[in-house]
Amino acid sequence: MKLTPNDILKMKSQPQAFPCLTAYSAPMATQIDAHCDLILVGDSVSMVLYGFNSTQNADMEMMIRHGQAVVNATQQAVIIVDMPFGSYEESPEQALKNAQRIMVETKCDCVKLEGGEDMAHTIATLVKNNIPVVAHIGLQPQMATQASDYKIKGKDKAEAEQLRKDAQAVAQAGAFAVVIEAVPESLAREITAQITIPTIGIGASNACDGQILVTEDMLGLTLGKKPKFVKEYETLSNNIETAIQSYENDVRTRSFPNEKFTYKSKKPKNLPEVA
Ligand code: KIV
Repeated sequence: MKLTPNDILKMKSQPQAFPCLTAYSAPMATQIDAHCDLILVGDSVSMVLYGFNSTQNADMEMMIRHGQAVVNATQQAVIIVDMPFGSYEESPEQALKNAQRIMVETKCDCVKLEGGEDMAHTIATLVKNNIPVVAHIGLQPQMATQASDYKIKGKDKAEAEQLRKDAQAVAQAGAFAVVIEAVPESLAREITAQITIPTIGIGASNACDGQILVTEDMLGLTLGKKPKFVKEYETLSNNIETAIQSYENDVRTRSFPNEKFTYKSKKPKNLPEVA
């Protein structure tokens, strides 16, 4: 059965947390759909698939193309498409125009944007225009332009207080869920208890109502240093390397393609004997 943003809202404060993952392609989305309540077409696509070093390189065309692929391949999960950097910060009107384009062209269920108190008016504008919104507070990757910007948020008093305000503001503006990234457990627990909408944690402890990870990180497909909060459930990069090495060897030694993988033309029938 197809889930809706309203179903996610009802998952607030349940004994079981709800699982969410990212997907950018049809094959990955197909596999995730039966197991996760929510799939995010994240702007992390620009780093994970395209090899850029910032999510700022994602644009509307990139998000729409990948959004279409994921929507086409799924039946159950709620599909969120990230609003890319530069598509919503200028004004609520700019955000509305671009969110409407994402919704219409991808047929996704909702959009996500980064920001708390500063984005409350924009969130309210989208919600008023029937666009369900997920907010994203704490570490906001679109603001992280260098490796050192990827750090825990809310460790000092002032930052923690701002995060509490951000969470309240996005909930009051009408967001139906909020991603909380890289925040200490005690603060994530407190915010989750205080707001009426589900919190979705990434590096924010198991106190949140749901959890999300970047799929390529948890499958061991991203190389290099990963954040502390990533649990690698498989190291698929090793399996892929082994398969590619076998292919390389088979091709170099002409063992692939062998008979099994080769088309043969039919023997011509009743041809006159050649004298
Ligand atoms: O773009 C993304 O993948 C995200 C997750 C980190 C939540 O926003």
